[in-house]
Amino acid sequence: MSKIATLEIGGKKYEFPIIEGTEKELGIDIKTLRGATDSVITIDPGYKNTGACESAITYLDGEKGILRYRGYSIEELAEKADFLEVAYLLIFGDLPKLEELAKFHADIKEQSVVDDDVKKILDAFPKTAHPMGVLSCLTSALTAFNPSTVDVESEEEMYKSTVKILGKFPVLVAWTMRKQKGLPLNYGDTSLGYVENIMKMMYEKPNEQYEQNNILLNALDKLLILHADHEQNCSTSTVRMVGSSHAGLYASLSAGISALWGPLHGGANQAVLEMLEAIKEDGGDTEKFMAKAKDKSDSFRLMGFGHRVYKNFDPRAKIIKVAADEVLADLGIEDPVLDIAKGLSEEALRDAYFVDRKLYPNVDFYSGIIYRAMGIPVEMFTVMFALGRLPGWIAQWKEMRMRKEPIGRPRQIYIGENNRPFIDIEKR
Ligand code: SDX
Repeated sequence: MSKIATLEIGGKKYEFPIIEGTEKELGIDIKTLRGATDSVITIDPGYKNTGACESAITYLDGEKGILRYRGYSIEELAEKADFLEVAYLLIFGDLPKLEELAKFHADIKEQSVVDDDVKKILDAFPKTAHPMGVLSCLTSALTAFNPSTVDVESEEEMYKSTVKILGKFPVLVAWTMRKQKGLPLNYGDTSLGYVENIMKMMYEKPNEQYEQNNILLNALDKLLILHADHEQNCSTSTVRMVGSSHAGLYASLSAGISALWGPLHGGANQAVLEMLEAIKEDGGDTEKFMAKAKDKSDSFRLMGFGHRVYKNFDPRAKIIKVAADEVLADLGIEDPVLDIAKGLSEEALRDAYFVDRKLYPNVDFYSGIIYRAMGIPVEMFTVMFALGRLPGWIAQWKEMRMRKEPIGRPRQIYIGENNRPFIDIEKR
């Protein structure tokens, strides 16, 4: 096919190159559009048809339900890798050798102490503060305690700021959860595995020996892998946008956490559980809630359904659904909301409204069921999403900075008042 796109405006033809990715995706390169056409631009609210960058990190095909990190399928990674291995893959581009992973983990452990003064910031929050707001604040505050992480102009400095945040972020997550529960803040035990120590920091009680639960450990490791990256989603685009001004990594991550908080994005996992609970409290009438979701005059949406890119089953949802069944069975938990979730999913997959709009369960639909089985408070669900997404955000920020991408600055079409003279207040 021709590698040129031709645009005709006002009887004049303009040609633009078409770039092709390694998975045969095509993009019209309109870098010269505004200059060539005397200021004509494109408009695309929500960027549904607009690529922000070329990236080698994650590939997804929404029609076929394909998701790959650096070319490896999400199914294989979820089954055969562990989270720290996947974090290395996303950030450095290849699966680590044994000694590379060991050094990466050792460097992270070395950086997993958080300046004690950070506790004073945490203490300043009311117990009712939403953990995502706390985490966004503490992440940005890390810049003050690690000033060298702002100017990452080299791979070496990038590495240092990467291992620092991978060491300190899980501590902030555990402290945020423990603070809400009124538990003393701790550090776990760095002789343990990366995710193993996250579990210990989150769950350890001050008055008893912590016993690892391998079912929950494996479930969390898999969930973190499934959330690790997802190309140019809302929060990742935010991290790249903030980083494009050469703001530091931690300020960029803090912005990404805020974007993820929204119920249309990562906040959906909390909203799904609250919705399932509401359906249960209302007597389990899923048909009633399906009708609300289809009623345009009702702002209610079926949380955990639909996706900007997937117009097929989200491959992550498939894997998490199986894991949810396994975890609940292994723990001997009969969770009525899982049955409600399954009922909703089956009904939606038969309903013309959802089928016509290609609305399928997404990554957030089942994850909350496992988090709840793990005893994680519902307000911490999106924090767990952020914990998983951290390596993806780092990888995307690093790629943007190492490729020296320009500062992000979209244009607009002005639709306000035309030029008008000022009127003194006495005459208004
Ligand atoms: C994540 O981008 C990513 O990769 C995100 C993510 C990641 O890993 O980073 O995958 C994580 O954010 C998953 C999505 C979690 N959000 C939810 O579950 C919230 C519920 N879903 C939505 O609000 C919605 O589906 C979005 C926001 C996810 C996608 O919205 P789009 O692509 O902008 O689609 P749209 O709003 O234009 O909807 C198209 C149609 C509309 O109806 P019509 O105007 O055509 O009649 O579908 C309807 C919408 O009203 N619709 C829904 C619906 N989602 C879309 N109707 C009822 N319930 C829903 N959930």
